[in-house]
Amino acid sequence: MREIILGLWDGHDAGAALLIDGRLACAINEERLTRRKLEIAFPRLAIAACLKQAGIRADQIHQVAACTTDPAKTLTRLLPATKERYYQVRRHLIEPSPLDPWTQTAKRIITRWPGNAATRQLSELALRRELHHLAIPAPITWHDHHRSHAATAAFGLGLNETLVVTLDGVGDGRSGSLYRFDDGRLAPLASVAARDSLGSFFECVTRLLHLRELEDEGKVMALADHAPEIDPKDNPLLDLFAIDGLGIRANGRDIEGAVRRIHWRYPNETLAAMAQQALETWVVTWIGHALAATGLRRVALAGGIFANVRLNGMIRRLPGVERCYVFPHMGDGGLAVGAACLAATQVTLPLMEYLFVGPEAGAEAIEAALARSDLPHRRCADPVAEAARLLIGGGILGWHQGRMEYGPRALGGRSVLARPDLPGLRERLNRRLKRRAWYQPFCPAMLDGEAERLLEDHHGPPDRCMTSLYRLRPAYRGVLAEVSGAEGRCRPQMVPEEDPGRYARLLHAMRAATGLGVVLNTSFNPHGEPLVNTPEEALRALVTMGLDHLVIGDWIVDRRDE
Ligand SMILES: [Fe+2]
Repeated sequence: MREIILGLWDGHDAGAALLIDGRLACAINEERLTRRKLEIAFPRLAIAACLKQAGIRADQIHQVAACTTDPAKTLTRLLPATKERYYQVRRHLIEPSPLDPWTQTAKRIITRWPGNAATRQLSELALRRELHHLAIPAPITWHDHHRSHAATAAFGLGLNETLVVTLDGVGDGRSGSLYRFDDGRLAPLASVAARDSLGSFFECVTRLLHLRELEDEGKVMALADHAPEIDPKDNPLLDLFAIDGLGIRANGRDIEGAVRRIHWRYPNETLAAMAQQALETWVVTWIGHALAATGLRRVALAGGIFANVRLNGMIRRLPGVERCYVFPHMGDGGLAVGAACLAATQVTLPLMEYLFVGPEAGAEAIEAALARSDLPHRRCADPVAEAARLLIGGGILGWHQGRMEYGPRALGGRSVLARPDLPGLRERLNRRLKRRAWYQPFCPAMLDGEAERLLEDHHGPPDRCMTSLYRLRPAYRGVLAEVSGAEGRCRPQMVPEEDPGRYARLLHAMRAATGLGVVLNTSFNPHGEPLVNTPEEALRALVTMGLDHLVIGDWIVDRRDE
C-alpha cells in the first residue's frame, strides 16, 4: 500500500505538500491560489491543488503532518481573524491604529513562548475542524518548527555527515538550531532561544527602514551595497549579539530600542550595511564554530535568514566547507515539506532534485484561456527557437512552461526573460514592468558550462535555485552589468547542460546565437502579486506588466499595441 502524507503549514506563507512513498508529488503555497502574497489563511486551496495534481482523494491520505504548537500559533488557529489585521498592517495595506504598536509588542512577547501539552491539544482541535471541512479523516502528527526547517534542508540535500543549520524569527520557542544528519536521522546539537533571535533583529532593521518585515529583508541586503564600506570597529550593531561556542546570545533585552537609537545616528543605507555586516559576522562565526566542533564539511541551511544570498555566499566560501546547500524554499513557506518528511517512514533522497512540483496547465487549459482572450496568438512548431529569436531582437518575454516551481524564486517555469546584454534593460524593467526599487538588481540564469566560464568563485556543485551570491569574472562584468550588482556580484541560476527541457534548450539557443548562454530571469508576477499560476493569470500579466510577448506551452502571444 502506498504511504500518502499531506504536509501542511498554516501560518505566514501557508502551504501544502504531498509526499507519496517518500517522493514529493506536489507542493504549492496558498498565495499562488488566493493571489495574496505570503498568504496567512488556512491552505485549503493548496491542499486541493496537491490532491488534484497527484490524482489522490482526500480519504486516501494516511497522515497529516503539521508543525508548530506554540501559544502564538495556537491562538491564531483558534482566532484566525486576529492575524488578518496584523497581515494588512505588516504589508502596509492599511494604516496602523494607535493600539497596533501595543498589540505588536504583546505579540512579539507571546511569540517567544514555547508550546506545551495544552496548546498542542488546542491546535489539534482547531486543525481537526479545518480538516473536517475538507473531508480529510487522517490522523495528525505534530512536529517542531525548527526540526521541520532542518528536515527540508537535510532531506533536500540528502547526504550523510551534514551539519544542518536553521535560523529564523521564532517558532516553538526557538530561533535557531544545529543538527547532524545521518541515515535519515536528525541528531540535535544546539538550540538558539527565541529571545536571542537574529531573524527578529533583521526584521526589526527592515521595519525601521520603513520596509515590510518578513518580506523586504532582501531589499535591506540590496541597499547595503550602496553604503560606504563599514569598518567593523565602527559598527555598533556588532555589540548587540555575542557568539559563544555553539550559542548565540543577545546582549540586552531591548534589541529593537538599541537598533532604533543607532539608526537615529546613521542614514538608511548605512544602517542596512551595518546590519548586513553584523548578520554575516555572527552567523559565519557561529557556523564556523559548529564545523570545527563536529569536524563536518557539509552544511545544509534552512529558515528565513538563509534567504540572504550574500550571507549564504560567505558560508559557501568558508574554509573547509566542501558543500553548502540551501533549501530553495528556505522560509516558513517550506515547512509543509519539512513536516511531511518527518512524518514519513522513508524519504527518497535527495528530495528536491526536481524543483517543478507545482500545478501544471495542460494544452487544453492553455487553448481555452487563449480562446477567451482577444490577444493575438499563434501556435509555434518550435517555441524555443521563436522565443530565442524574440529575445535576441530585444523582446521581454513572459515564459509559462510546464509545472510551477516551488519557493520564492522563478526558475524557468513562470519567469520573465530578457536578453541580459541589452543596455538600459535594468532601468526599463525596474520602472515599467516591475516597479521595483532602483537598488534591487536582476539575476541571470546560465548553463552550467557558462557558470564555470563567467563566475570567478564557482568551484562546487551548481546552484540550481539562486540561493547564493557569486562574482562575475572582471572580463564579463561590463557585458553582464544589467544582471549584476557592485563588483560583479550576482545571484545566478545554473541550469544543467544536458537538461532536455525547453528552458535549457533556450539557453543553448542563446549561446549559439549570441555567444552567451545566459538570460535575465525574474519572477513572472505583476507588482505586489505572487507568481502567476494559471494561463489566465499569465495572459493578464502580459498586459498589466507591459511585456512584449508571452511564450505559453506551444503558443506565442503578442501584447496588442494600443
Ligand atoms: Fe520559521
